[in-house]
Parts: sequence; structure tokens; C-alpha cells
Amino acid sequence: MSVLDIRKLTVSVESKTVLCEFSLIIPSGEVHALMGPNGAGKSSLANTIAGHPHYKIESGDILFDGKSVIGLSPDERARLGIFLSFQHPAELSGVSVANFIRAAIQARSDGHISATEFYKQLYECMDLLHMDRSFTSRSMNVGFSGGEKKRFEILQMLMLRPTCILLDEIDSGLDIDALKIVAEGFNSLRGGGISALVITHYGRLLRHIVPDVVHIIENGRITRSGDLELVDSLEEGGYQNVKT
Ligand SMILES: Nc1ncnc2c1ncn2[C@@H]1O[C@H](COP(=O)(O)OP(=O)(O)OP(=O)(O)O)[C@@H](O)[C@H]1O
Ligand SMILES: [Mg+2]
Repeated sequence: MSVLDIRKLTVSVESKTVLCEFSLIIPSGEVHALMGPNGAGKSSLANTIAGHPHYKIESGDILFDGKSVIGLSPDERARLGIFLSFQHPAELSGVSVANFIRAAIQARSDGHISATEFYKQLYECMDLLHMDRSFTSRSMNVGFSGGEKKRFEILQMLMLRPTCILLDEIDSGLDIDALKIVAEGFNSLRGGGISALVITHYGRLLRHIVPDVVHIIENGRITRSGDLELVDSLEEGGYQNVKT
């Protein structure tokens, strides 16, 4: 079970309202896509679910598996299985890719893993993502290209095996081949009862990661929901003219 249930969530940042009575349920096993104009509140939503302290919850609730996560720290939410891949992944000088991922795994209650087993899994996941093994000893994201940062986000996801996945523009900066590789990585986790929210501006990612439902967010609330046809009409006519 991994149901994400967002109830009438109103959120502000720097006294600006970024989500306005936003409601969304993502049942276990479903992948929902979220599209919307720049500044509509997509990253604010993902960051709020992950527990980013800048985002102030004015009202409403976020339930994961029936329990509110609002009082929990980002670490505690991650331990419950909530994973956010950032639109702009941070650089962390002096922390190697391997050490970062191993520490994240070991922070979980079921996280004991031997070095041998860890590297076996890490190399398998890196092979899946066509990542060079020399990355393991590099400082996290330092000097990584835009696409390499995004692959690294997916590497963390594959290693941590979260149950609630939030992907914020994972496709931005990825080349055509990398887009397919990253989508395959994500699809390999599907079917195991995960719930996922995939934020994107373009339909091309959604042709590889086929979502169960597509939502459009405008001014902090969902204005339309539908299937992939909604994406087609959006790409034809833009947000002003999208058919209901
Ligand atoms: N820390 C912050 N300080 C000030 N304003 C913020 C902050 N975070 C978000 N905002 C504002 O909230 C609004 C929503 O931002 P958000 O990043 O959620 O948009 P988005 O839908 O992800 O857009 P994009 O498609 O460009 O990534 C924007 O107007 C943004 O400037
Ligand atoms: Mg954003």
C-alpha cells in the first residue's frame, strides 16, 4: 500500500499562495502526470510533500497510507518511502555518489547492507542507466552535466526503492536516448504498488512513462484531468485552448 492523499492543501511561500485548496489522490499502483504553466505550483507541490521547510501549510493535509505526514521532517518522510527527484538537484562537494546513496539506505530501519551487496546493486543500477562507474567516487552532482544530474536522481531512486515517487521535470536536460533509459529505470519499479507523480512540460516523457491519469494545474489548483489525449490537445492548442 502506498496511497498519497492530498486534501484541500493551501500552501504559501514568502507570503505568496502557491497551492490553493489543492486535492489529489494517487492510489497505490498508479502513476499520475502533472502538467502546467511555469509558476503554476508544480515544484511547490512536490517540495511540500517531501517536507521542504520553506513551504508553509496554511490548511489541508497530506496523508500517506492514511497517516498525516505534515508533522514529519523530510528525513522521516523519506524513511516512510517518499522520494523526490529535484528539478534542480543540489551539488554536495566532498560527498561521493557511493557514500551518499549508502548513507541514505542505511538511514532506513531495514537499511543494513554489506559493502559487497551495496556495490553489486549499485553497479547493476548504473549499468541499467548506462552510467560510467567512475561516477561512484565523484562528489555528488559537482561538475555533472544537466543530464548526468538527472540520471543520478534516478540512480538514487532505483537504489532506495521508494514507494511514493515524485519526479520533478526528470526529462529536462536529458538527451533522446537518456530519456528512454531513465523512463525504463522508472518503469522497472512500476507494478510493485508504488504511487507516483510525474511532473513534466512535454508529452514525450509520457509516451515512455504512460500515466494512468494526467492533471493540469493552473494557479495552484487542478483545472483539468484526463488521459493522454489531454496531453495531445494541450500540445496542439496550449493551456488557453485545451479541450475539456
Ligand atoms: N522559495 C520561494 N520564494 C519565493 N517565491 C517562490 C518560492 N518558491 C516558489 N515560489 C513562487 O511560487 C510560484 C510557483 O512556483 P513553482 O516552482 O511551484 O512553479 P512550477 O509550476 O514548478 O513552475 P516551472 O514549470 O517553471 O518549474 C512561482 O511564482 C514562484 O516564483
Ligand atoms: Mg517547477
